[in-house]
Amino acid sequence: MYRSHTCGELRIEQVGASVILAGWVQRTRRMGGMTFVDLRDRYGITQLVFDEATKKELFLQAEKLGREFVIQVEGTVAERSSKNAKIATGDIEIIVSKLVVLNVSETPPFTIEDETDGGDELRMKYRYLDLRRNVVRKNLELRNRLCFETRQYLINKDFIETETPVLIKSTPEGARDFVVPSRMNPGEFYALPQSPQQFKQLLMVAGFDRYFQLVKCFRDEDLRADRQPEFTQIDCEMSFVEQNDVLEVFEGMIKTIFKNMKGIEFEASFVRMPYAEAMEFYGCDKPDIRFDMRFVDITKEAQTKDFVVFNSAEYVGAICATACAEYTRKELDALTDFVKRPQIGAKGLVYVKYETDGSLKSSVDKFYSQDDLKAWADKLQAKPGDLLLLLSGEKQKTLKQLGELRLEMGNRLGLRDKNVFAPLWVVDFPLLEWDEDAQRFSAMHHPFTSPKPEHVDWVKTQTNLKEVCANAYDLVINGVELGGGSIRIFDKELQAAMFTCLGFTKEKAEYQFGFFMDAFKYGAPPHGGIAFGLDRFVSLLAGLDSIRDCIAFPKNNSGRDVMIDAPSLIDDEQLNELNLMVNLPKD
Ligand code: AMO
Repeated sequence: MYRSHTCGELRIEQVGASVILAGWVQRTRRMGGMTFVDLRDRYGITQLVFDEATKKELFLQAEKLGREFVIQVEGTVAERSSKNAKIATGDIEIIVSKLVVLNVSETPPFTIEDETDGGDELRMKYRYLDLRRNVVRKNLELRNRLCFETRQYLINKDFIETETPVLIKSTPEGARDFVVPSRMNPGEFYALPQSPQQFKQLLMVAGFDRYFQLVKCFRDEDLRADRQPEFTQIDCEMSFVEQNDVLEVFEGMIKTIFKNMKGIEFEASFVRMPYAEAMEFYGCDKPDIRFDMRFVDITKEAQTKDFVVFNSAEYVGAICATACAEYTRKELDALTDFVKRPQIGAKGLVYVKYETDGSLKSSVDKFYSQDDLKAWADKLQAKPGDLLLLLSGEKQKTLKQLGELRLEMGNRLGLRDKNVFAPLWVVDFPLLEWDEDAQRFSAMHHPFTSPKPEHVDWVKTQTNLKEVCANAYDLVINGVELGGGSIRIFDKELQAAMFTCLGFTKEKAEYQFGFFMDAFKYGAPPHGGIAFGLDRFVSLLAGLDSIRDCIAFPKNNSGRDVMIDAPSLIDDEQLNELNLMVNLPKD
């Protein structure tokens, strides 16, 4: 027997008991004739005591213990004279009578503490050591709990967890595919699924009625804090449902998870905000509604004087930052620099300070009278002490820029509290978006999303394509797109028309989706579904800044696993077997 208890288990009630513990040496401290060792495992830390006066030999053995040695001890539980309220086992210690070193350890390259001295790269290289740290492990425990809660909710609602293949044919879902060469089929490739979209729909054709899967998805896209090349979805599909049925089931899931995991109860139904409203008032399709600060269109009011910047703009929009009128020149300059960053791209920022004495000061005083500025302030329902921030230009671009500025102000004003959760459904997405580069439409969600019934004819006749509205929805919490889904096309003619809208020739659609369209000849039921980003969900619950922190072995921003050093070259023999030649660009 390696251990009778874990390192997080013993309490004052066990004083006097003989126990065996095993774990890692967190730290050793020598105090006079005593050596104290903190023994750590997943469950906690227990203090061990080695006394020179009574057990000289053991004491000398303990002196040689280094950080991260793996040891086993036998001993007796004793009450501590100086208790440590910070740890669960802090009332007791173990008077050691036997010590076995199970394994030695080199000095770890960084400290295995909550506040470590290890930088990101180093911690990723030695991720197995990083995972020994409480803060990291806790995120994975939370992830485990989320998986459990999800499975419990869905299985109780008759969803069947079904695995789908990983070596598949390319699924066009917006990102690039990762591909895998086939040795047995020279010159041919599998693709790794960007999601199991078509398989889950085929399971509906198969009559499964309710499917889910916690599933790895792979997308070769540019990485960000909330994107990994391989990530996990809670992927779901249901038959004989309309949009409202799907939203209700999954709103229930989100509510149950928040209640069970965070003790938070959302009483009211989640807001359902049309995409157009999200874009018009928040400048993005994933609004953070923890705070208000909606945009106000003041184009008309701003185009009354000789200020050419506003007069030549398609749109002038403003937000009102409560109680910010006393912002200094320096703070306003910093905001101007913020909106001028290349990734945001505004040309400048106009401000109006609504002073507490009721006067208005602005960066455009030359052009506008107090009355003009007051009219703007009134339209924004600003009060004395508030600050108006205005951006102008081409409408869609300006809305996006204003969206970034709004979030920045939300941060500055502390309105984006990680312990507050504000969920909403964004609904009524456009079905298609115009791709300027490719000069064709692409699916905003994916090609299997159905148009609203009233727009079906437009798709079939290829008219008004920009106006076609989809039966699609996203779940957004705190400005994070947590999930997205849609009611699917289940009619093969409509699906064929959709492929035509997307610029597929009949032959190409047949090559790419022949098997799928064939299935739809055999009685496909009406169906729809959704997929949630599991990594994003855990990050949100844990208040993390990056989804990497809740993935056991994540990739870095260049898509590399620095621990196993992947991706890597493969040898010529492997290449030959696969009939591949590597053609690297020179330099
Ligand atoms: P979608 O592409 O919106 O929909 O993806 C669903 C959810 O997956 C998460 N997600 C990601 N998480 C981490 N890293 C990534 N690279 C990444 N990409 C997406 C997001 C997103 O909301 N098949 C459809 C779903 C459906 O229609 O049912 C799909 O995959 O949280």
